[in-house]
Amino acid sequence: MSEVDIRKIDQIIKRFPPHESNLLIPILQSVQEEFGYIPPESVKLISRHSKVSRNKIYGVLTFYAQFATTPRGKYVVRPCRGTACHVRGSASVIRYLKSKLKVEDGYTTTDNKFTLETVACLGACFLAPTMMVNHDYYGNLNDKKVEEILKTYR
Ligand code: FES
Repeated sequence: MSEVDIRKIDQIIKRFPPHESNLLIPILQSVQEEFGYIPPESVKLISRHSKVSRNKIYGVLTFYAQFATTPRGKYVVRPCRGTACHVRGSASVIRYLKSKLKVEDGYTTTDNKFTLETVACLGACFLAPTMMVNHDYYGNLNDKKVEEILKTYR
């Protein structure tokens, strides 16, 4: 990792008061917001700043599905594969996304623009089938709608 990146990590961490272990999650979220994942180099700095052991930080990273420890695309596309969405055609939506993005579940496109990550439920079952792109929700999906949504991010 370049020095610039380390400086950026440092700037983010220093926005938070030191030695506040209860701020670990917001710190991790801010780092991920900037880099799209938690760079391994940041864990040592976060540990030092928050006084939370590196082991505990890795435990948190493993426990919470929201955190990624490897680089992801600029846009994380999360189609729902939960029961309500499945009943209303999510399998077809997921198939379509895979063919359009040319990636399997859990993978990132070669241009690093999109990562595809199916999820168990987005908590918006009334809009089934659903997906999220970063923080945006989309519902009542079909192939045409997915195509239009992807276009807005290309
Ligand atoms: S099952 Fe898809 S949003 Fe709940």
